[in-house]
Amino acid sequence: MATGFFYGKGINLVIMKANTVEHQIFDHKRWKRKIFAKLLRKKSFRKRFFQSDFFFQQMMEYSPIPCQPLASLACCEQLVFENFLSRNGNLSPYEVMAICALIQERKPQNLLEIGTFDGNTTLQMALNAPEKALVHTIDLPPGNVQTMQPVLKSDLQFIYDEKKQRRKFEETKVAHKVRQHFGDSTAYDFAKFTENGPLDLIFIDGGHSYECVKSDTENALRVVADHGCILWHDFTPHFGGVFQFLCELSKKLQLVHIEGTNLVYYSP
Ligand SMILES: C[S@@+](CC[C@H](N)C(=O)[O-])C[C@H]1O[C@@H](n2cnc3c(N)ncnc32)[C@H](O)[C@@H]1O
Repeated sequence: MATGFFYGKGINLVIMKANTVEHQIFDHKRWKRKIFAKLLRKKSFRKRFFQSDFFFQQMMEYSPIPCQPLASLACCEQLVFENFLSRNGNLSPYEVMAICALIQERKPQNLLEIGTFDGNTTLQMALNAPEKALVHTIDLPPGNVQTMQPVLKSDLQFIYDEKKQRRKFEETKVAHKVRQHFGDSTAYDFAKFTENGPLDLIFIDGGHSYECVKSDTENALRVVADHGCILWHDFTPHFGGVFQFLCELSKKLQLVHIEGTNLVYYSP
């Protein structure tokens, strides 16, 4: 039996086999499974159950994307961080470290971040990229939520965040390595990122709706270099659109979930 749950604006975000969950909880006991099946018919139970930590843990455990330690993708002998303590909306320090380790390993010249926010990750990317590298980063223009694809309610706090007025890489020693773009990534001309050639590393962390991450990914796949890589943030059932999209994408591309992070990695 397949079941789904609805989140945000009625988008069916997560589909999983409910009997798999039953199997885990009730240890094959038929009478308990019967009770669970009955409970599932109750809307109030379904609502709580499909948003519980237990359910999210099960989703992660049964995700089709294999998990690998960072060490299998990159080693990080000496990374450089400045002003990097994270706040709500940023990556965790370990996630920033994972991206920077990949940058040091792969030495990308042309980089792109979708979703600048306060520029924390942008700054760390620029600090660890080769001297002649260029980090493109795009965000919506201040105060603008005119986007082609649906915007999640939970994204609005980051879109309107006032701390974005001053981005962390501005007036730093690596500011010359960063080019800020303003616009809706789902309607933007990606040719503006590839003036110096295809992109060696793309980090997708803009809008979190299914449609938005799908559009960003399709554009990224068009402009990524043959030897390049793409990273996505927020691979967690809490961001159902991202989670569902990446699970679907994993049927076509060999994706890797980086252990201890919400990052997914792909290299063509
Ligand atoms: C979670 S924050 C990004 C965090 C940042 N990458 C970091 O590591 O600190 C998401 C950002 O994406 C931006 N955003 C949302 N939808 C977008 C869109 N369609 N085009 C461009 N930027 C978008 C928001 O304004 C917000 O600043």
